[in-house]
Amino acid sequence: MPKNLISIRDFSKDEILHILDLAKEFEANREQNFLAGKIVACLFFEPSTRTRLSFEAAVNRLGARVIGFPDNRNTSQSKGETLEDTIKIVSNYADMIIMRHPQTGAADIAASVASVPVVNAGDGINQHPSQTLLDLYAIKKTQGRLEDLNIDMVGDLKYGRAVHSLVDALMDFNPTFTFTSPDELLMPRKYIEMLDEKKINYKEVRDIEAGLNECDILYMTRVQRERFPEISEYDKVKDSYRLTASMLGSVKPSMKVLHPLPRVNEIATDVDDTQYAYYFQQAGGGMYIRMAIISYLLGYK
Ligand code: CP
Repeated sequence: MPKNLISIRDFSKDEILHILDLAKEFEANREQNFLAGKIVACLFFEPSTRTRLSFEAAVNRLGARVIGFPDNRNTSQSKGETLEDTIKIVSNYADMIIMRHPQTGAADIAASVASVPVVNAGDGINQHPSQTLLDLYAIKKTQGRLEDLNIDMVGDLKYGRAVHSLVDALMDFNPTFTFTSPDELLMPRKYIEMLDEKKINYKEVRDIEAGLNECDILYMTRVQRERFPEISEYDKVKDSYRLTASMLGSVKPSMKVLHPLPRVNEIATDVDDTQYAYYFQQAGGGMYIRMAIISYLLGYK
């Protein structure tokens, strides 16, 4: 069985730290060529800017080549082919499959029939493990450590797959969490039960001011319009939070604002010019993290 990255739990704590170290090496020297001759398939059944392009850039920087599609309209899925059959076929052509899909569990299904490593580039509201690794890279870079940090997650904690994987990963690093959301968008109980089991400190609040001045990382998220069954439900909560520069007057000097992006209205552009904004650098680190993930899963450790 090839090693996959479907959930962040597919990597141990040591493997996560190794990926971060590897990414640092790639950031210091990004012109690599040791995957020359390899082919990586990027199959995106759902829109993406950062994840797809940074994976494709990573493949190119490693000397490999990319095949794939940015949406499935021109694939044989439009004729009714199953995901399983598509993956079996692509396994014949590529040395690795990177896949984004709107359905929770689709990456698991892909891995169950693939003969090459599969990376989950986001499956519905479930997980986004490569995003988590780049989030950890940004956290470690800005805070100097991953342990004992106060992390405030704000916004759509129900549908946001990035926060789900990140909570899961941070559980190994003794965090204190503040979960800031409207009642309609609470962190799923599955993760709350995991935190209870591991006796990890957390609080759930409605007001963004409740955790702002004590956090080391303010992890803002977009309300995920595409996940709501009814647009009227989205309209009720879409403007729940808007971070502005004027709200940052009493935060810790070392605090950083992260966001998986894209943003809509939840971070005003006047935050971009403050010392706290780190979301664009965070996304930039994604390419090095993805170079590390690809290399590791293809056996170049
Ligand atoms: N963070 C993230 O997944 O962005 P994209 O949807 O643009 O890939």
